[in-house]
Amino acid sequence: MKKIIVTGGTGYIGSHTVVELIESGFEVVILDNLSNSNIDVLDGIKKITGIKPEFYKVDLADSSETDKISDVLKNADGIIHFAAYKAVGESVKYPLKYYKNNLNSLINILENMQKYSVKNLIFSSSCTVYGQPKELPVTEQSPILKADSPYGNTKQISEEIISDTIKTSEKLKAISLRYFNPIGAHESAEIGELPLGVPDNLIPYITQTAAGIREQLSIFGSDYNTPDGTAIRDYIHVSDLAKAHIAALKRLISNKNKTNSEVFNIGAGKGNTVLEVVKTFEEVTGVKLNYQIVDRRQGDIEKIWANADLAQKELIWETEKSLAEALLSAWNWEKKYRGIK
Ligand code: NAD
Ligand code: UD1
Repeated sequence: MKKIIVTGGTGYIGSHTVVELIESGFEVVILDNLSNSNIDVLDGIKKITGIKPEFYKVDLADSSETDKISDVLKNADGIIHFAAYKAVGESVKYPLKYYKNNLNSLINILENMQKYSVKNLIFSSSCTVYGQPKELPVTEQSPILKADSPYGNTKQISEEIISDTIKTSEKLKAISLRYFNPIGAHESAEIGELPLGVPDNLIPYITQTAAGIREQLSIFGSDYNTPDGTAIRDYIHVSDLAKAHIAALKRLISNKNKTNSEVFNIGAGKGNTVLEVVKTFEEVTGVKLNYQIVDRRQGDIEKIWANADLAQKELIWETEKSLAEALLSAWNWEKKYRGIK
């Protein structure tokens, strides 16, 4: 059985990927410092898969902590590196917190991979590396524009760190997956997105408003150059995104990669406006949302969606679930977590 280390595996995307890994026959070891997740997630994973993965509470940005788990790292067949801070706005306020955590943890992982000859790395990148693209949809060849936030910059720099390291290291191979907007929850509603405090992202804000935890959703801007004036994003069901990691990992393990440092867009290939998301949520759940239109949010781009043809061709992967299914699953998760009937 291949052993895969999942950093950030108790987090939102990590936990869904752990489920898919276990269901695909991999042995999983999770490394997380629980800075943005809860240990109870392991119980959710066990309810779905029947297996509670091995877990180590480690701050990956601190090399003295990873030294303590050298035995785990030594025997791994691959690492999926999710662990990072991800709040764009917070990164503008506290840039060093972001550079320190996101870059140090990646460097630390790469050093350990070299030290223990772990060959395969999957890295969580983001569509934020494209900034506001001039042409849509974006392909992997679209220009990387100057990052709008320190968070975005950590993803650009991380991709560069990975490709530079690979140039000097014959055995190391990596795939960076540029995620678009992951949303929704596992169909069992045993795991889902659980932001600490007031959510920054659209979908948890919507579900918490529907649950009565937030009074009103603010829609940021209605004067964009889009059909209804609200911003467009490419929303992808988190379970579809999780499956892309399995496809990427299998590609590396079976040496089907074309170069040792590859990049793929992972999106649904379709854009939706904020108002379309709100209306679809209301339709599939039957819950009316209290919302108001407010000014644009600083740092937001107008529109982006993916050309995901390369992932379809090379990873033999494509999205299976619709926006409506994703929104319903997010609501089911919120209801179950809050005990709402
Ligand atoms: P998340 O915050 O739910 O999960 C990240 C996990 O990493 C958390 O469990 C956190 O406790 C852990 N972590 C953070 N720093 C750590 C450290 N130093 N040591 C150990 N553990 C640490 O976030 P997510 O939405 O699951 O995102 C996962 C990855 O995907 C991140 O790298 C993020 O930047 C990237 N990404 C996310 C999105 C999105 O919209 N959610 C979009 C594009 C890319
Ligand atoms: C951003 C980043 C993404 C990053 C993610 C993590 C871009 C293109 N994407 O996603 O890389 O990983 O944050 O947090 O920079 N909205 C509202 N009201 C709300 C919340 C959001 O109207 O209360 C709108 C936003 O203006 C945006 C859309 O909903 O148009 C999606 O926002 P959000 O969920 O925060 O994700 P992004 O900002 O697209």
